[in-house]
Amino acid sequence: MTTATAPLTAARSWRQVTARVARHDDAGAGHRWLDLEMPAGFAVPEPGQFVQLLLPAPSPVLLPRPMSVAGVSRRGGRLIVGFLYAPVGVGTRALAALAPGHPVEALGPLGHGYPLDEAGTAVLVAGGRGVAPLLFAADALARTGRTCEFVFGARTRSLLVGVEDARPRITKLGGRLHLTTDDGSRGRRGTVLDALDALAPRIGDPLVLHACGPHGMLHGVAEWAMARGFRAHLAMESVMACGTGVCRGCPMPRSAAARAAHRADTPSLFGNREYAMCCTEGPVFEARDLDWERVE
Ligand SMILES: Cc1cc2nc3c(=O)[nH]c(=O)nc-3n(C[C@H](O)[C@H](O)[C@H](O)COP(=O)(O)OP(=O)(O)OC[C@H]3O[C@@H](n4cnc5c(N)ncnc54)[C@H](O)[C@@H]3O)c2cc1C
Ligand code: FES
Repeated sequence: MTTATAPLTAARSWRQVTARVARHDDAGAGHRWLDLEMPAGFAVPEPGQFVQLLLPAPSPVLLPRPMSVAGVSRRGGRLIVGFLYAPVGVGTRALAALAPGHPVEALGPLGHGYPLDEAGTAVLVAGGRGVAPLLFAADALARTGRTCEFVFGARTRSLLVGVEDARPRITKLGGRLHLTTDDGSRGRRGTVLDALDALAPRIGDPLVLHACGPHGMLHGVAEWAMARGFRAHLAMESVMACGTGVCRGCPMPRSAAARAAHRADTPSLFGNREYAMCCTEGPVFEARDLDWERVE
């Protein structure tokens, strides 16, 4: 949905709660899987939404760290929200040290997720750890009786995070997994765009792409989709503080079309005519809504 037709609602469904670590395991390729048990009242997240995780005091970081939801389940009636993340810096390394039972402040669910009900064949495109929200999206599509084509790419085979779990999971959901690596060490040699080129002629319906990965890959997917008249929904990342539109720290440059369609009655937490806020209008944006030449 482009900005012109997006519903102008800033309805608040998020809460800040004290969650508990229910499971915290190695997920391979230097990644961790974290399950948090949420207290009653935490809304069930949708694929593409994220949660701000704030470490318990004394914490090495002041600000919470945003994480995409990678799965949702119920255990003994309790909501369990799963995350797949890489310990890349001071905050995520401190997170990685938390054992089951530890408290974590969680603010969410935040942002707009993928519009999975859009008509067409859903093609999920993941780059590296971008697989996290898309496995959740594949689950959600299967619950509504729809299958998907799942394109999963990385530079090399060791960066195909969780691929051994992904294959049976996607097959069980009735989907098809297409692997690519830049160096050809697993799956098709090339990028996810090469895989899309091969896949598109075999699909009758219009394609609707839902993607997550590095911004360079998302830029390529956006251009690929726009050149062919397909819609593409891309999960963007930005350094975030509040996660709720207040701090203005996560601007995303709007395209000329989105600037022209910007309405004066847009809720202020949604940014301004020039910039959308990644946390409230995103993190999932339709390709035509962003100025890709100015996306960092
Ligand atoms: C909406 C959203 C969803 C995200 N989902 C996931 C996820 O599912 N799994 C996951 O592993 N990570 C995810 N990230 C990225 C994650 O939030 C950052 O990796 C994390 O904030 C880094 O914190 P740190 O304290 O460990 O690193 P820092 O010490 O703050 O930084 C270490 C390195 O990480 C880089 N970095 C910092 N913040 C980000 C960021 N937001 N995006 C990319 N690189 C960053 C820094 O530039 C630096 O190179 C998401 C980010 C956003 C905005
Ligand atoms: S993180 Fe504060 S406005 Fe987006």
